[in-house]
Amino acid sequence: MTDIARTEAWAALKTHAEEMQDIHMKDLFDNDRERFRRFSIIFEDMLVDFSKNRISEKTIDLLIRLAEASDLKAAIEAMFAGERINTTENRAVLHTALRNPPDKPVLLDGKDVMPDVYEALKKMERFSEQMRSGELTGFSGKRIRTVVHIGIGGSYLGPAMIYEALKPYAQDGPEIRFVSNVDAADFTEQTRNLDPETTFFIIASKTFTTQETMTNAQTARKWFLEKTGNLESAVKHHFAALSVNQEEVEKFGVDPENMFVFWDWVGGRYSWASSIGTAVACGIGFDRFSELLDGAHVMDMHFKTAPLKENIPVILAMIGVWYNNFFGSESLAILPYDQRLARFPAYLQQCDMESNGKSVDIDGNPVACQTGPIVWGEPGTNGQHAFYQLLHQGTKLVPADFIGFVNSHDEIGDHHLKLTANFFAQTEALMKGRDDGGVKAEGADKGFSEDKQSLPPHKRFPGNRPTNSILLKQLTPRALGMLISLYEMKIFAQGVVWRINSFDQWGVELGKVLAGKILSETTMMSRGDSVDLSGHDSSTQGLLGFFQANRPVQDRQ
Ligand code: F6P
Repeated sequence: MTDIARTEAWAALKTHAEEMQDIHMKDLFDNDRERFRRFSIIFEDMLVDFSKNRISEKTIDLLIRLAEASDLKAAIEAMFAGERINTTENRAVLHTALRNPPDKPVLLDGKDVMPDVYEALKKMERFSEQMRSGELTGFSGKRIRTVVHIGIGGSYLGPAMIYEALKPYAQDGPEIRFVSNVDAADFTEQTRNLDPETTFFIIASKTFTTQETMTNAQTARKWFLEKTGNLESAVKHHFAALSVNQEEVEKFGVDPENMFVFWDWVGGRYSWASSIGTAVACGIGFDRFSELLDGAHVMDMHFKTAPLKENIPVILAMIGVWYNNFFGSESLAILPYDQRLARFPAYLQQCDMESNGKSVDIDGNPVACQTGPIVWGEPGTNGQHAFYQLLHQGTKLVPADFIGFVNSHDEIGDHHLKLTANFFAQTEALMKGRDDGGVKAEGADKGFSEDKQSLPPHKRFPGNRPTNSILLKQLTPRALGMLISLYEMKIFAQGVVWRINSFDQWGVELGKVLAGKILSETTMMSRGDSVDLSGHDSSTQGLLGFFQANRPVQDRQ
């Protein structure tokens, strides 16, 4: 296939981007009363307003032409059909099967995966219900009050984000805590004041070999044994494992009854809907977890079947391509106007940056164009008092997704009206900006005298800053499922346009290998053994030297 950057569709977009450079969105709105209707989609409980972008009908047509030139439709079909589109790992990409109804077959190499998916879900359902009802107890017969989920990356970010987002539904379940970092401070803080008799550890790791998770899991085992007076026989009542690696799970000593499986065709960062979500199901209940899956499925099906021009993930993907590849923007801000979505930007960071942070294409050649953006963000309104200054008046073009909800779970006073007023006001301000003329009109309204109406340059807002607004009725499990799938599918669609494999992550390997080597060196240093550091560069030698000089030698084992 030809480089996407050499296609006629790409060239047309390049020319069109030049035409659009000097066009202000404010004028586009002033000249078209139908602009919102033209550039927004309502799907189920979700409104996606993409009208506040530097686009016209022609832009969308050209972007869709680019999507067609990328064979996006065929790529979507290939993913849902279980083709091995993760070519560097020779794997299918079927996280969509995890939220598929059990009676709709999903074939992988001619075999329906749905019976296995359904069986795994049933096991999760039984376990989470027993945990919530108190039927499952700790070794001493006491009810489990706290579940500690240990995992990292995709085995942590999705579940942690979802549990936080759906806390209003988690009031009658055990409390779920998350330990992720290999920094022991994480384990210490998350297990502070816990009673081993009422605590259950869930170890979540697709490979069951990840250094951070296995270290935390061993520490949890030690913590449990120390606190129970070495009661080995009690371990099986307090540990479960979520993994594809049965052998390693058995080696660790988790009761096979407490192992929850998934499959290599579920990528880590797409695994929240698999057994990796077991702790979430314990926290919010399996029915709510099912609603989350239903929401994701609805969006999956929309992505699979809607024409490209009416397809929400595709539209958002192509608008992202527009700024990333034709306006030179480097990042994407994710700005949820909901405190419970505080972890959503961090979750999306992995989903997007681990998927599309690639510089070789699917044939192993250097990519022909810029690929994935830097994803970052914070909830509104906190971000407004931190970094919005740069969004409004900085020199960089930062496209932003605003995400909010019409109704709150916490209708206290006018908090929610204030929150949403800020959401709407920010997108309006970013789009319109404020120049001298605007101020004059405002000044005249307020009866200011003429000489006070002129703004100095530092008080002017250029506007023309692009945003998407995603507005849902309420942060329910179903709404969250839709939102997650929307971004997963958007990221996939962009990967197709950029001709990269969005489902591998070889870029995380080198650091792991070097950390292993340095760990053996710092371990030797800690014992007081001499270490030859000459293989390292002078900076790394300097760091290790300072480390050694300032760390006491520990007793030899
Ligand atoms: O950071 C690399 C990575 O492999 C992620 O893709 C994955 O989500 C994470 O590590 C955790 O891996 P595992 O679930 O195998 O412990």
